[in-house]
Amino acid sequence: MISARMSRPAKVLVLAAVVTIAAVVTACGTESIGVQKSNPLHEGAVLFSQRCAGCHTFSYAATHGSAANVRSAQANNGPNFDIRCERPVARVLYAIENGGFSGAYMPQNVVVGQDAIKVAEFVATYSGRHAPTVPGVQTCSEMNVSTIPAFTPVATTTPASSTTTATTGSSSAAKPAKHKHAKKKPGHP
Ligand code: HEC
Repeated sequence: MISARMSRPAKVLVLAAVVTIAAVVTACGTESIGVQKSNPLHEGAVLFSQRCAGCHTFSYAATHGSAANVRSAQANNGPNFDIRCERPVARVLYAIENGGFSGAYMPQNVVVGQDAIKVAEFVATYSGRHAPTVPGVQTCSEMNVSTIPAFTPVATTTPASSTTTATTGSSSAAKPAKHKHAKKKPGHP
């Protein structure tokens, strides 16, 4: 790149350009997921950075999607989770399934199933950490993160559940009885 035949100012220019490019490239790589790989919430952070980055700012996932300036904010700029507390986990899961709280701007089910739970647990754990403290207002760390209970298949756990069988049994027995009457009447001459 730098040859002996080049003039001194040209050499300096090329060197300066190389240094600038190197600085820019390394700066791009410096911001990374703020959750260690060994942490079980790491996967949720990665998913967040892949799926939610366009609309939400969250330093723990290295995203900048929220509006930087209220004057230039657009309707689909989502809240900044460094500031906004999102606890418990069920609240985040609701927003993921519903598309935010209004359902108007954020797409529904950007992540689903176990992935949605992983993202929700990550958001609930790390959100609100840079919120300003307001006297008299509970801080995010004082609120419960909570968990989503593990999935237990209904069929194997409640076959002998007397209450559910009794209620469904009686209601289904009552309906066909009415139908029989209705059918019999016109059938009789
Ligand atoms: C297309 C932009 C967009 C994408 C993508 C998006 N969101 Fe949103 N989100 C929004 C907007 C806008 C709101 C606020 C409006 C609302 O709640 O209806 C919001 C609201 C929320 C809320 C409720 C926040 C509050 O306190 O009001 C949560 C939680 C949330 N988003 C989580 C997520 C997660 C997790 C993902 C990725 C799986 C995601 N969002 C992807 C735009 C987006």
